Amino acid sequence: MIDEILPAVVMSAESFGDEPDAWLFPEERTALGEVGEPRRREYTTVRHCARRALGGLGLAPAPLVAGPRGAPRWPEGVVGSMTHCAGYRAAATAHRSDVHTLGIDAEPHAPLPDGVLEYIALPREASEVTRLARHTPAVHWDRLLFCAKEAVYKAWFPATQSWLGFDGAAISLAPDGTLLARVLSPAPSQHVAAPREFAGRWLVRDGLVLACVVSPTLD
Ligand SMILES: CC(C)(COP(=O)(O)OP(=O)(O)OC[C@H]1O[C@@H](n2cnc3c(N)ncnc32)[C@H](O)[C@@H]1OP(=O)(O)O)[C@@H](O)C(=O)NCCC(=O)NCCS
Repeated sequence: MIDEILPAVVMSAESFGDEPDAWLFPEERTALGEVGEPRRREYTTVRHCARRALGGLGLAPAPLVAGPRGAPRWPEGVVGSMTHCAGYRAAATAHRSDVHTLGIDAEPHAPLPDGVLEYIALPREASEVTRLARHTPAVHWDRLLFCAKEAVYKAWFPATQSWLGFDGAAISLAPDGTLLARVLSPAPSQHVAAPREFAGRWLVRDGLVLACVVSPTLD
């Protein structure tokens, strides 16, 4: 399903449950530490997906442990992103020679809890969500906006090693399944090549909302 919204150079894999044959490298087990069973399962299954996606790039399975602020460290020359929510896990990877950075996010397709839209949306985004909801009420546009913002952060952080708040990017959602994110926060000085825009796509299906954003290679 997520492959439908990713460019062809991005390899992906997904799972709608936990996979009994999924396994972890010893360093991943150590990095995970003592956690509850639901966290162990999502962590293991999403890495199983990531290894399938890496296989699509012709790469061998590799340990994927978190670096600074939770961003996974991908093998040399690879960019990628992982997501998990109830009933869904997915990973997407690409060669850095094809894609500068990418982010994916999945959420249950349900309205955001009260008060969250006001917290995450710029005033213009909030009025756009209201307008889109009037036009296409079958989509929970507030949740989609949140999902798109999380995907943007997952692409932004690995490229810049810096925080981006919910007011740090302006998202335009289009009913045709595309989206555009414009970064408003200044680029961190040591990263003059930080992306200023992300093109993305979104999909609502089977009780889930998925979003991806990609920044093309800067070469
Ligand atoms: C990090 C964050 C985006 C994760 O999103 P989430 O919906 O809670 O969780 P998901 O299950 O979809 O994704 C979790 C995965 O994201 C990845 N991730 C975590 N931190 C990350 C980071 N700093 N950069 C990139 N990827 C990250 C990890 O692979 C993680 O899974 P793992 O712990 O099993 O490796 C979210 O918790 C967060 O901090 N958001 C605030 C920042 C933000 O969204 N800004 C908006 C900018 S417009």
